[in-house]
Amino acid sequence: MTTVVIEGGRVITGEGQVDADVAISDGKVVALGRGLASGSDSVVDASGKLVLPGCVDMHTHMEAPHNDLDAPADEAVTCDDYRDGTIAAAVGGTTTIVDFATQSPGVSFTDTLSAWQARLADRPPAVDVGLHMIVTDMDFDDAQADLEGMPEAGVPSFKLFLAYKESPLFVDDGTIFRVAQAAAAAGGLVMAHCENGSSIEVLQQQALARGDISAIWHARTRPPVTESEAIARVAALCALAGAPAYVMHVSCREAVEAIATVKRSGGRMWGETCPQYLAFSEEVLLRERVEAAKYLVTPPPRPPEHQEVIWQALRTGTLSIVSTDHCPYLTKWKAAARNFYETPNGAPGVENRLEVMYELGVAQGRLRPERLIQLLCAAPAQLFGMYPQKGTIAVGSDADIVIFDPNRPKTISAETEMSKCDYSLYEGFDVAASVQSVFFRGEAIVQDGKYVAQSEHGAFLARQRFLAPGDRPVERSERERAAT
Ligand code: URP
Ligand code: ZN
Repeated sequence: MTTVVIEGGRVITGEGQVDADVAISDGKVVALGRGLASGSDSVVDASGKLVLPGCVDMHTHMEAPHNDLDAPADEAVTCDDYRDGTIAAAVGGTTTIVDFATQSPGVSFTDTLSAWQARLADRPPAVDVGLHMIVTDMDFDDAQADLEGMPEAGVPSFKLFLAYKESPLFVDDGTIFRVAQAAAAAGGLVMAHCENGSSIEVLQQQALARGDISAIWHARTRPPVTESEAIARVAALCALAGAPAYVMHVSCREAVEAIATVKRSGGRMWGETCPQYLAFSEEVLLRERVEAAKYLVTPPPRPPEHQEVIWQALRTGTLSIVSTDHCPYLTKWKAAARNFYETPNGAPGVENRLEVMYELGVAQGRLRPERLIQLLCAAPAQLFGMYPQKGTIAVGSDADIVIFDPNRPKTISAETEMSKCDYSLYEGFDVAASVQSVFFRGEAIVQDGKYVAQSEHGAFLARQRFLAPGDRPVERSERERAAT
């Protein structure tokens, strides 16, 4: 068995930082320490570099129709399939994504999962791909038992949309509660898109009737209280059923406070945000029509004062994860819409998360490097049943490793990205540090920032049942630090 040693780098995990070599063999990490290079088959020089776990992005939408399960062929579908989207992920330092299998009403979860596994077999991914189950319908024979079988099949997270009243994705409180009961019974985690879809639909129709059709009305018809109300409702229904809950794409102070309230009272709730809520304020929705539409994501970007609240929540542990919500629609689909209501919501980002978060978070002094790795690697792997196989660098972990150069500036541009999307949210954004190389299960698939794998080696990743990680932030007290 050949052994490769990544020599001389600074290894950063969610647990801390250490100067160490990393030996990998047969797709796994086999040793960590000094002086491992002698006797190895090859050596990769990482001196002056950061050696990070491959990042885990548990919120992407590859080949997904816009809020419509039965989209006709000429409807907007996200432009990255499982192959293209995972190559983009890899180049950005992400070696595991968790995407969504979407249940069409009346279709069993077992059949839905098989259909998505067939997609993955058709378009073999560059990195590993787990699936969450989007539940739209519990009103068919054996729905409860079928859903309770999903964790055993490697799908321990069930996603619910409280937004999008007009779409078949929208679920009522009875469905939320039944899904929470299934999660409680079978070791699942309820994931929720928390916005009050019913009141938003009223506000939207009123705005359209007045002729308020521009992109800023996307934000004005989704005020922060629609987010916090839905979070409190999910928390209550999950607590009643005894299930853990996870809130997706938190965008504002009110949502952070709602999660903090649940946590303070001992509730089992975790939250994520996305880089777009930290990098952009709602002013982007005031840009010229198509330029604004590119930033039309849901929930919307908020006024700038919300951003510091989100940073603080990331530092203290009120928020646990940063995911991308990569949901790329080509500019032509954004341009074709007659108003904010018709505009497909979502934006690309799977390729940018590590570099943008390192720049905004670590380089600009808002996050410690270990905390960043918790947010992008360790916590997603822990909460979503992949730890320590993924999300860390430890003996026995998959050898999914990023060599990250803190002195490798670049300017982000759609022209040089691997995503098939024709625009980038971060066009022209300068970062001082960037991904140099990526190893996926021991193989160098990215070198000098370029995807170099000869064939795709990723596969469907069966995940473990939900296990609460104790969600402590990485910042340890001086006493703890001294004791280790
Ligand atoms: O704008 C977004 N977030 N689009 C993707 C679908 C969703 O709501 O997560
Ligand atoms: Zn999403």
